[in-house]
Amino acid sequence: MILVRAVVPNDRPVFLIGFMGSGKSAVGRLLADRLGRDFIDTDDLVVEREGRSIERIFREAGEAEFRRAEREALQALAGRRECVVATGGGLFLGFFERCWLREQGTTVWLDAPFSACLGRVSSGAGRPLWAAGKDPEAFRALFEKRRAAYALAAVRVDAAGSPDETAGRVLSRLGAISP
Ligand code: S3P
Repeated sequence: MILVRAVVPNDRPVFLIGFMGSGKSAVGRLLADRLGRDFIDTDDLVVEREGRSIERIFREAGEAEFRRAEREALQALAGRRECVVATGGGLFLGFFERCWLREQGTTVWLDAPFSACLGRVSSGAGRPLWAAGKDPEAFRALFEKRRAAYALAAVRVDAAGSPDETAGRVLSRLGAISP
């Protein structure tokens, strides 16, 4: 495959937001490749900074402690340019975090159907909110409840397709050109 570089009109970070399993990491990596930018995953930052897995943080210290660690990891990115950031699915829900993200970069909601999110989380790790009950109906209720907050992102992109298709959609919404 020939990688065609793309350029977007500004160097502010692109923050991918959305529900667990919406494809933020896969799409984020593709976007970072296309734009020649760094790729950052806030879940990875939290794990690095705290020295323990997300499951362990939830189990040993609780969700509130995870949210604190997540907020601190995010703030460590202040002023970063030229990057694509996949954010944890709960990060955009806090008022402070939402304002911070919107101020620091371009927020893009990957709006994937519930079935796709469920399929991806069922086969992966690092999601204690799913693993606690593995209850699809409770998970769907959380999915529906969060949509109103995700809709506050600057840009919404249909993420029903493959990561490649979704990355292409994001690039066109960001006004990317291939010089
Ligand atoms: C969470 C999503 C997860 C991770 C944590 C909490 C959430 O990240 O941050 O398990 O509250 O939606 P992904 O969205 O990358 O799965």
